[in-house]
Amino acid sequence: MTRADLDGAARVHQMAFPRQRRSRLWLECNLNGFPRMLPYVAVADFCLGYVLWVQKSGFRPEAVLELDQLAVLPEARSRGIGRRLLEESLAGVRLVLAEQQSVLKSVLVSTRADNDAQRLYQAALGARVEAVISGLYSADEVLMVARTP
Ligand SMILES: CC(C)(COP(=O)(O)OP(=O)(O)OC[C@H]1O[C@@H](n2cnc3c(N)ncnc32)[C@H](O)[C@@H]1OP(=O)(O)O)[C@@H](O)C(=O)NCCC(=O)NCCS
Repeated sequence: MTRADLDGAARVHQMAFPRQRRSRLWLECNLNGFPRMLPYVAVADFCLGYVLWVQKSGFRPEAVLELDQLAVLPEARSRGIGRRLLEESLAGVRLVLAEQQSVLKSVLVSTRADNDAQRLYQAALGARVEAVISGLYSADEVLMVARTP
């Protein structure tokens, strides 16, 4: 993600998460947080989706990442863009980690218990449900971990 992607990514954010506010600022903060925050976009003629990765608990030799947010434009869903975003951005993340002499140890991801994104996280990352936290955001949230993804 670059500054030029912010408006398009903000549009995706707004459509994917209508309860959340100030979409452009949210994404801009993530962009400004590099390399703790590692944001990527899927772009064709315009932004189709984005993914936000975060390095957790310091810059560690064995990095623990959180997959903070993944979103694809409603009309572009179920075509494999979400999966490609995860897989191809993770390859980019590994390069950033290699530059800081780190390797990826595990990925943490949480989502609403009723969100089918769980299946995607399992298929693309090998993530497994480790806990369910009741009422964390707007509903129960499943906490998933992918070890050596
Ligand atoms: C989750 C999301 C990013 C998936 O993007 P996508 O481009 O549709 O994902 P893909 O086409 O790569 O789907 C891959 C797999 O994900 C699963 N999946 C993801 N979202 C799904 C949904 N809403 N309904 C059904 N299956 C879904 C399916 O298992 C699918 O595999 P299949 O096509 O073999 O059935 C998209 O649905 C989205 O933006 N949702 C709103 C925001 C959101 O909930 N984000 C996740 C929480 S942060």
